[in-house]
Amino acid sequence: MAANDPLLEPYQLKHLTLKNRLMSTAHEPAYSEDGMPKERYRLYHAEKAKGGIALTMTAGSAVVSPDSPPAFGNLHAYNDDIVPWLRELSDACHEHGAAVMMQITHLGRRTNWNHSDWLPVLAPSPVREAAHRTIPKQIEDWEIERIIGEYADAAERMRDGGLDGVELEAYGHLLDQFWSPATNHRDDEWGGSLDNRLRFSLRVLDAIRERVGPDFIVGMRMVADEDWQAGLSKQEGIEIAECLITTGHIDFLNLIRGHIDSDAALSKVIPVGGMASAPHLDFCGEVRSATKFPIFHAARISDIATARHAVAEGKLDMVGMTRAHIADPHIANKVVAGLEDDIRPCVGATYCLDRIYEGNEALCIHNPATGREATISHIVPASNGAKKNCVVVGAGPAGLEAARVLGERGHSVTVLEAADKAGGQICLAARVKRRAELIGIVDWRMGQCEKAGVSFQFNTYAEMSDVMALNPEVVIIATGGLPNTEIVPGAEYATSTWDILSDNIKPAERVLLFDDNAAHPGLAASEAIALYGSDLEIVTPERFFAVDIGGLNHVKYAECFDAHDVCITINKRLVGIEKDGNTLVGLIGSDYSEKIERRDVDQIVIEHGTLPLDDLYYELKPLSSNFGAVDIDALTNVQSQALKPNSDGTFQLFRIGDAVAGRNIHAAIYDALRLCIAL
Ligand SMILES: Cc1cc2nc3c(=O)[nH]c(=O)nc-3n(C[C@H](O)[C@H](O)[C@H](O)COP(=O)(O)O)c2cc1C
Ligand code: SF4
Repeated sequence: MAANDPLLEPYQLKHLTLKNRLMSTAHEPAYSEDGMPKERYRLYHAEKAKGGIALTMTAGSAVVSPDSPPAFGNLHAYNDDIVPWLRELSDACHEHGAAVMMQITHLGRRTNWNHSDWLPVLAPSPVREAAHRTIPKQIEDWEIERIIGEYADAAERMRDGGLDGVELEAYGHLLDQFWSPATNHRDDEWGGSLDNRLRFSLRVLDAIRERVGPDFIVGMRMVADEDWQAGLSKQEGIEIAECLITTGHIDFLNLIRGHIDSDAALSKVIPVGGMASAPHLDFCGEVRSATKFPIFHAARISDIATARHAVAEGKLDMVGMTRAHIADPHIANKVVAGLEDDIRPCVGATYCLDRIYEGNEALCIHNPATGREATISHIVPASNGAKKNCVVVGAGPAGLEAARVLGERGHSVTVLEAADKAGGQICLAARVKRRAELIGIVDWRMGQCEKAGVSFQFNTYAEMSDVMALNPEVVIIATGGLPNTEIVPGAEYATSTWDILSDNIKPAERVLLFDDNAAHPGLAASEAIALYGSDLEIVTPERFFAVDIGGLNHVKYAECFDAHDVCITINKRLVGIEKDGNTLVGLIGSDYSEKIERRDVDQIVIEHGTLPLDDLYYELKPLSSNFGAVDIDALTNVQSQALKPNSDGTFQLFRIGDAVAGRNIHAAIYDALRLCIAL
């Protein structure tokens, strides 16, 4: 498809030639240091540039004013110190032929006052945003005038930093908080009529254009329909777009449909796995036809076929594939090379975005090199040492990643797997219909392993003799774990979440599910039980349930629990199980009193994480050259493992993933990648 591929057609944006139609839209990965885009930030974007992307929109919501407190690691666009960092960032992207811009904003009410300078949060009217719980101060005229100037100052810094342009964020932030009847209740010159509600944006655009001149790209990422009774209609959105275009000050529109003031609303703007692909694409096509203006857009366009369709059918000029590039920054190069099957798929897990709202940096569930470019290469380099004979035991996410990486290093790899197929716990997770895409984590690795010549032996419960018969030089134990339900007296009557998810045991009529692991397995099993039609109570000792699930992942579970009247009890823990005839009695205590409640149910499900399946590791340990020891410094610095305390040992032995300790998919894959890329 590479020849005449509409996705690979250059796009002329004013004076700027974008080399193809692929872009990454603004997203704050929270890689900033002191509010500056330093090395980590630069390398992250440079990797996409290296991977052939035409345009990378850096930052997400770089803040133009100190009274727009950075809520999720946002860059400080209000600080002159940013300019030299921007120069390094833009040089690093330009070197690979990618255009680079930055999104700037004033967050308005979409932030918290307890960050940075502890300044009060501002908004057109004192309407609280559900997501950040902040009650904003109604902005005054002197603040408005100051912020208009600060937008221009920030844009000038972007230009001085060598960027190709800026994008103003106008969905859920201060600019469009003025537009929307949901957030602007003013009756002065800044509220009421659409002209008044647009006044602030038009003043900002005038100020920016006056400052940066005509040759700097200025775009607007704007909501063109809030899809909300209280908010802006599509008709008003198109009217706003036309007003903005008429100023002659903007060069592109990057369209958003929906509102973002709650997790449920945000998940329609940034749909997670299991939700419809490209839900707003046709809408964007309509706005493009109505305005005849350059239109960019991103919302779950995660595969190349959909992206190609968007351009070929004239719905978009530039296609945002943002999470797709977090999963694989080399998409464009692979399309050019005709290697689309090699693109690591974005499986919609939205681990990346949920992490930033929990105060962490964005990480991809199955690409641990993303955001760690300083230490881990996205392309596994061939080993320049001797080719080794490697045995990997277990074909879950950790084992498969180890096999892929060792294979791509050029080693000879045999994988022994007890089940009849690869995937381990991912196969269980993917049984939940709306999380079925997770299987892409397995399928992509199987494809890459095949290319690297890795051999698999399924239905092989590996014993020590099986491993030794292969004369290994490296053995990787990735045998995973098993559910640990033995945590209270009477636990022998309990069912595990795996039994429910695998359909080995059907949900009973009245079910109590105790979850103190607070991650997907407990919630996924709860969803399966609720969908089955059982009467379900989830009990957790936490302050709120499923604390390790981020806001966007929470939405679909919450919708299911709401629809099926699931009872959620926090601050309580299961302390024992008794049997009374055919009834099970859950004894429910709490960390806060001595009180014990009794629940009569038909089934008690326990989710308490896993314990490692490590027998084989301990059997092999005395025979290994390193006694299983890991040089932690070498591991974290991604260097080779040289510990060899046992001169009689004939192979190096390592343990990864849940076979060490139960964690998550990212941890398992990261264990494997950083160890094996240096072997
Ligand atoms: C980690 C992360 C942070 C984001 N932060 C911003 C932001 O600050 N500003 C913005 O306009 N969009 C932000 N987004 C939304 C993306 O630009 C994009 O609209 C969204 O990911 C949907 O596109 P996709 O399906 O191609 O990923 C963020 C997305 C992610 C994954
Ligand atoms: S975490 Fe999931 S949604 Fe985010 S980039 Fe990775 S695969 Fe895509």
